[in-house]
Formats: sequence, structure tokens, C-alpha cells
Amino acid sequence: MTAVRRLALPLVALFAGLIGTLIAALLMAGAEEDRRRTRFAGLAESSVGAIRSRMLVQLTLLRGAAGFINASDRVTQADFKTYVDRLRLEQNYPGVLGIGYSAYAPDRLALKRVLSGAADVDVPGVTLRPPGERRDYSVILFLEPQDRLNSQAIGFDMMSETTRRQAMEASAKSGLSQLSGRVRLVQEIQPVKQPGFLIYTPLYSAGRLRGWVYSPLRAHDLFGAIFYGADLSEIIVEVFDDKIGAEQLLYQSAAVERISHYRSITPIEIAGRRWLVRVTASPRFSRDTILPAPVGVGIAGILISMLIATVLLIQSRAARRTEEQVMLRTAELRAANDLLLTEALARQAAEAKVAQMQKMEALGQLTGGIAHDFNNMLTVVIGNLDIAHRRIGQPDRAERAIAQATEGARKAADLTQRLLAFGRLQALRPQVLDVNELVAGMADMLGRTIGEAIRLDTSLMPSLWPVCADAAQLESAILNLAINARDAMDEAGSLRIQTANVILGEGDLPQAESSATGPHVLVSISDTGHGMPPEILSRALDPFFTTKPVGKGTGLGLSQVYGFVRQSGGHMAIESVEGQGTTIRIFLPRHESSAPAETRGHRGEGRLPLGAGETILVVEDDDQVRNVSVETLRELGYQVLAASGGEDALDLLERHPDTCLVFTDVVMPGMNGRTLAQQVLERRPDIPILFTTGYTRDAIVHDGRLDEDVTLIRKPFAVAELAEAVRRMLDGSSR
Ligand SMILES: Nc1ncnc2c1ncn2[C@@H]1O[C@H](COP(=O)(O)OP(=O)(O)OP(=O)(O)O)[C@@H](O)[C@H]1O
Ligand SMILES: [Mg+2]
Repeated sequence: MTAVRRLALPLVALFAGLIGTLIAALLMAGAEEDRRRTRFAGLAESSVGAIRSRMLVQLTLLRGAAGFINASDRVTQADFKTYVDRLRLEQNYPGVLGIGYSAYAPDRLALKRVLSGAADVDVPGVTLRPPGERRDYSVILFLEPQDRLNSQAIGFDMMSETTRRQAMEASAKSGLSQLSGRVRLVQEIQPVKQPGFLIYTPLYSAGRLRGWVYSPLRAHDLFGAIFYGADLSEIIVEVFDDKIGAEQLLYQSAAVERISHYRSITPIEIAGRRWLVRVTASPRFSRDTILPAPVGVGIAGILISMLIATVLLIQSRAARRTEEQVMLRTAELRAANDLLLTEALARQAAEAKVAQMQKMEALGQLTGGIAHDFNNMLTVVIGNLDIAHRRIGQPDRAERAIAQATEGARKAADLTQRLLAFGRLQALRPQVLDVNELVAGMADMLGRTIGEAIRLDTSLMPSLWPVCADAAQLESAILNLAINARDAMDEAGSLRIQTANVILGEGDLPQAESSATGPHVLVSISDTGHGMPPEILSRALDPFFTTKPVGKGTGLGLSQVYGFVRQSGGHMAIESVEGQGTTIRIFLPRHESSAPAETRGHRGEGRLPLGAGETILVVEDDDQVRNVSVETLRELGYQVLAASGGEDALDLLERHPDTCLVFTDVVMPGMNGRTLAQQVLERRPDIPILFTTGYTRDAIVHDGRLDEDVTLIRKPFAVAELAEAVRRMLDGSSR
């Protein structure tokens, strides 16, 4: 896993977490903003509401005073004082400097009357201030409570000042209470001046304007009282008269240092005058919102995202470690596997070595056996020939010696035959056979062979399938096995020969060399002899392996049988239990053709068939063998031509058109027997050709079977064999 791949998942998770956090924080910030806006609006609204309701109270207060004065024709200063004192203005209505009454004088004459009538209401010595001529006048007669400041107001003509005049005229005109614009109150003599304003309520008597009940109000004190106890830490309240501007400012709860975006301006209408209430969020309001939920959510989100990314990173590290460990284990396993493989190869090599050694041992045994036996036989042959040579003058002795030499040579020929059989190299003449018939035909001979002490039992399955095999070889195999059985049963016992049709399945014959399946004919030979221990059983098939005393067994019996059975496409199985007996089973494949089975008739003994002077051409590269053949044929009564090779032979044939038969060796230097035969047949299509060979792996024998059109006698051949073959061919019975 590369570093990039490993980091990808944690990074994606972190990124997604941060994006999610951002969105959540933004949503929350939006909600928080809405909430703050709502809260601010609430704060602003309640401020405005407080101002409005307080001003209503002021108007009510003034209307009360107006009602009091209107209620009688003559209200003295003392009456008014009593009324106002009872209201306890300072205590209950902070900011209200007092409640007063000013009389209206529409002209100079009326003014005189007012001033002179002042004494009537217990306000003596009132002088008009400021003096001067004006369109009309309004003289303050009462202003309670009559403290030092308020006393100064008595006699003041409010019509002399524009702002007051405007308010008074407006109220007189509408008949309703009227608020003045911003003024500097006459009472304002303290060093720190406050803006102020007045409220006028007109008084009428018999439809005529009589004057005004009024109240001068100090704005700071009034609004301070309105917001007294209210929490103004989060907002700054400013009240402007009619317009926003320093000149119009009536009240400011605190200096506006920084203009927040939470700001509202609300116009309110109070007694015919327009005020503007401006509310601004104080730094405190914003500060409260500095650590809002969105920030908390953001921080929490970032922390959680980082946590998840870290966990994923740790997991991916763990995964990488696991992967590395798996790779490590895999490498270890591979190494172990390689080791096992190496060991297996070494073992195979060792086994091959052992097998090779065993093979060499077997080969040694075989070679030794052959050498030993041949030596013995050659000793007999050479010794007897030597005797014959020396006793040539004594025909009897010489003849006996020659007969013994011939016997030795025959035994040697037998031995080669058996060796060829073991090597599966003998030339077979397979024919379709009924094995039951063959066994039945052998019964007499078998009985004689095994003796009377041993009982012979045959159990032959009816309708036995035919097989295709060399009858003489099969007979010899059965005889061999019967002799082995006899030898295993010292005194008495029974020999049982059985035949049966069997169908072999996979694995039925564990001892078989290759898998043997399908229909087979079984020939089983069992005895009740001493059996074989495993170590003998395992070697019984080896050539020259024998447990019999010297001179009694050659150790070639079973090997020969085995070679024949295998060459015939069959199988052989040996079962033996020490002390109980042995069963040897031969399986020959069923012959599928419908041709009727036949048995080979026994070779008749008798006189040799002789020639009648026919000319025979003998072709043989080995001088001695050629001489023997020539001599034998001449003795049999034939004219013989001899050639040492193919070329010579064709030459002779040319010169002797009376040649009746060609007898040729197969394996020869230069032109071989097969080629020669072709050439001969091209010249003389009618001439019979008899082959002879000492070895079967050659041009006319394939897979151990003779070609169809070939007649062959095996070397070494007996005189009778040659005589019979030649006669048969000349008589035209061979084809
Ligand atoms: N039916 C049997 N019961 C017990 N042992 C047997 C039987 N057949 C063969 N053997 C053992 O197997 C050995 C080899 O047998 P094989 O036929 O090859 O040779 P042989 O009988 O000893 O000699 P040969 O057959 O050449 O005369 C025998 O010497 C014997 O020990
Ligand atoms: Mg034997």
C-alpha cells in the first residue's frame, strides 16, 4: 500500500468532516443571527414602549391638572400648590420639574388684566419678562413646586420664545396637548445643562382660550427615570426630536462608540410631536454573541473530524501492518514450500539412485545366471565334442559324446528361449483359443507330472470367452506353474486349476503394472503347498531367483510365465500365504472376434519329411550357421545354393531359375532379409521364402507378433523344424 493510498481515506474523512462542520456552523450562525436579530428587535421595542407609556402618563398627569383648574373659576396659588404637592412630583415623576399654569393674553389690555389679576390668585407683583411688545402673551402665574428655580419662571412670557410659542399655538389650535421641540429650560442653571421640552394642555373658558397647563421636563432625568432599573447594558438608546442630529438629541443612554449593524430607528408620535428613538446594540450585545453555538459546533466538528481521521489513520496503519505480516508469512510459507520441494527432489534422487542400484543388482543377477548356466552347458558341449574328437575311431563312444553335446546345446537353446520369453521378445503365434479345451487336453500330462500323491482338480467355467494367445506358450506356462506347485507340496496336497470369465475393474489388480480393466479370461492355479514368505514373494518373478537346490531350479519359470502373459496383453497376480499355499492367477483379455476358438494339435512325432532334389537358396551372413543350414538341407535331400548376402543371392537366383525356395536370415549387413525377399518376389513372384532369425526385434516382427505373410523359424532351429517348414512351403501348404 503506498503512502498516498494509506492517507487517502483519513484525508477524505477529514475533508468531509470539515465541510460538514462548516455547513453546520453556517446554518447555526444563520439561526443565531436570526435569534440575535429577534432579541435585539425585542430590546428596541421594549425601549420604545417604555418611552411611549411614560409619555402617556405625563399627558394624563397634565390633563388632570387642567381638569383641576377648569373645575373652578378661581384657583388660587395655594389651591394649585396643594394639588401639585399631593402628586409628589419629585418622587413619583422624576424629570418633571413641575406643573404650571400660564394665562393667555391676546393683547396688551388683556395682559394688563392678567398681571393685575394675579394678586387675586395670590401671586402678587408679577412682572412680564421679557418686557416688550408682542402679538400676544402668555404669562406664567403658577409653577409648583415653588422652589428656587421654579420661582424664577413666574411672570415669564412663553410666547416670547419661538419653540414654546409654536407648541402653544399648535395646542390652542388643536385643543389637544402638545409637546414642544427641544429647548433650554429657564430653570437650567446648573453647570451641566440638559436638553428639555415642555408639554402644553390648553384651557378654555366659555369657548375662549384661557391659558395652558404645562410641564417643563428635563430630558435626561426623565429618560433616566424611564430606563431606571432596565438593563441597558446591551443597547444604547437615543431619542431625537423630529430629526436625527446632535442639535436634536434629547437623550442618549450612553455614547455610541462603535456603530453596530444591530440598529433600529423608530419614529413615535407623542402629543403632536415626532420623536425618533434610535436603538444601537452596545459592544456588550455583540460580545455576548462572540462565542455562539456555531463556533462551538465548528470547534466540536473540527475536533470530531480530526478524531475520525486519526482513527482511520491508525486503522490504515494497522491494516498495513497486517498486510506486511501476511506478506511475511507468505514468504515464510514459500520458503518452507521451497525447502519441502528441495527435500522431495533430493528424496526422489535418492529413490532413483536406490532403484538404479536395485536394477543393477537384478541385472547382475541376470547376467551372472546366464553366464553360469551357459558355462555349464558349454562345458557339456565342449567336453563331449572333445571326447568325440578323441574317440573318433570308436564310433559308439563318439556317437554318445555327440548326443550329449547336442543335448547340452539344446538346453542352451532352451535357456535363450526362456530368456526371450522373460524379455517379452519371443515370437508368438497367437491364435483364437478355447482355454477350457486347452486345459482339458493337458490333464493327462499334468497328472503324470505332479504324481499320484497330489490330487488334480479342474473347475472349468462353461461358455468361457475365447482368448487370442500362443497355445504352445500358454501350455508351457500352465505346466511351469503346475511344476512349481508340485515342488511346493512335498508329500501330498491338491492342485486346483480353474477358469472363469471375469470383468476387471479399476484397482482390482493392485499388483498389475498398469490399470487392467474390461473382460478377461481367468486361469487360476492354486496349491496347498508351503507358500512364500513376503521376502520370497517379492522376488519370485526375478529371473534366476530360485530357492530350489542347485541343479533343480533355474529361477526362470515364473519370469518366463510373466513375460508371456504380459506380451499377450494379460496380467498376472500372485497370492501366497506361508504354510497355506499359493494361488497364481493369469488374466488374458477376452478375444472380441466371433471366429471360433481352435486348439493347436499336438505336434506329431515321426520321421522327417525329406526333399526330392528341389533347389533351395540359403542366404546367411554367418559362415558357420550357413554351413549348418546347407549341410542339414543337403542331408534332407535338397540341392542347395549358398549366398553370404542379398546381392550374391539375387545373382545366384538369376543363374539358377530352377530354384524352388529361398531360406534367408533376416538381420544381415547390407541388404536385409526383408528387402531381399521383396527383390526376389519382383523377379519370381511365385517363389516361397522362409525366414529365420535369432532375434525378434527386427524388420518382420512387430510388437512380438509375426507379420501376416511371413513364415519364420527361430534360431536355433532343430533339424525337424527346418525339415517340416521347408516341406510345408514347397508343398504349398504354408500360405
Ligand atoms: N507354488 C509355489 N509355492 C511356493 N513357492 C513357489 C511357488 N512357485 C514359485 N515359488 C518360489 O518362487 C521361486 C521361483 O520360481 P520359478 O518358477 O521362477 O523358479 P524355480 O521353480 O525355482 O526354477 P525353474 O522353474 O526354473 O525350474 C521358487 O524357487 C520358489 O521359491
Ligand atoms: Mg519353477
